[in-house]
Amino acid sequence: MEKVKMLYEGKAKKVYSTEDENLYIVSYKDDATAFNGKKKGTIEGKGAINNRVSNYLMSLLEKEGVPTHLVKELNDRETVVKKVEIVPLEVIVRNVAAGSLSKRLGIPEGTKLPFPVIEYCYKSDPLDDPMVNEYHIRAMEIATDEEMKTIAKYALKVNEFLIGFMKGVGIDLIDFKIEFGRTSDGTIILADEISPDTCRFWDAKTHDHLDKDRFRRDLGDVEGAYHEVMKRLLGE
Ligand code: TMP
Ligand code: ASP
Repeated sequence: MEKVKMLYEGKAKKVYSTEDENLYIVSYKDDATAFNGKKKGTIEGKGAINNRVSNYLMSLLEKEGVPTHLVKELNDRETVVKKVEIVPLEVIVRNVAAGSLSKRLGIPEGTKLPFPVIEYCYKSDPLDDPMVNEYHIRAMEIATDEEMKTIAKYALKVNEFLIGFMKGVGIDLIDFKIEFGRTSDGTIILADEISPDTCRFWDAKTHDHLDKDRFRRDLGDVEGAYHEVMKRLLGE
C-alpha cells in the first residue's frame, strides 16, 4: 500500500490518502507539543514507539470487542487505518486524580477516584479544547445520543482492559485520552492512538512518570520513559 496525498498534518501525525478510498495511512512524527502547541519539541524515536505501542494495544482491544481503525502496520512509523471522520471530542477517562482534574478540582495528584470518571473536551485549537458535557454535545450536534452511548461504553471497556493489562507490566493507568471516528457506514470505532503521548502511565512501584508528562513538566529522560513502556509491552 502506498501513500497518495497528504490530507492532514496534526501535531503528532500525518494522514495520507491511499489508492483505496476506504483506507488511510498515518505516519507518526517525533514532534511533541503540549498546552495546545505552546510548548514544542522533539522526542527522538517517539513516532516509531507510539506507532508500535498503539497498534499493539489496539490489536488487543479488537479481541476484547472494541472495534478500532487498525488495519496493518506498514513499517516503523506508518500504519494503514480505516478511513473515518473523527468525532471532534477528546474522550478522557480517569482512575486517579492528576493533571487538569487536580488543578480544576483541588484533588491532589495521586488520589484514587472511587470509580472511573469520563470527561469530554471539544477538539478545537482556537477554543483550546474546552470541556463539554453531553448537553453541549447534543446541542452542538457533535454526536448523537446513541453515538455517545457507544462511545462511553467503549471508553469504559478500553479503561477496564488497559488497567489490567498495564498492571501486568508494572504500570498504573492513571488516565488517558482517546478519540473515535465514524466509518463511511456510520459505525463508531476507536481511532487516533493510545500511547505514552495520550496516557498517564506511572510505574506501579516507584510512581515514576512513564509518559508525556516528562516532556510537559521538563522531568528529563523523556526518550527513556517511552522506551521503557515499549520494552515492557513488546519486550524490546
Ligand atoms: P489532562 O489532565 O491534562 O486533562 O489530561 C488527561 C489525559 O489526557 C492525560 O492522560 C493526557 C491526555 N491528553 C491528551 O492526550 N491530549 C491532550 O491534548 C490533553 C490536554 C490531554
Ligand atoms: N497534544 C496537546 C498539544 O499539543 C496537549 C498535550 O498533550 O498536553 O497541545
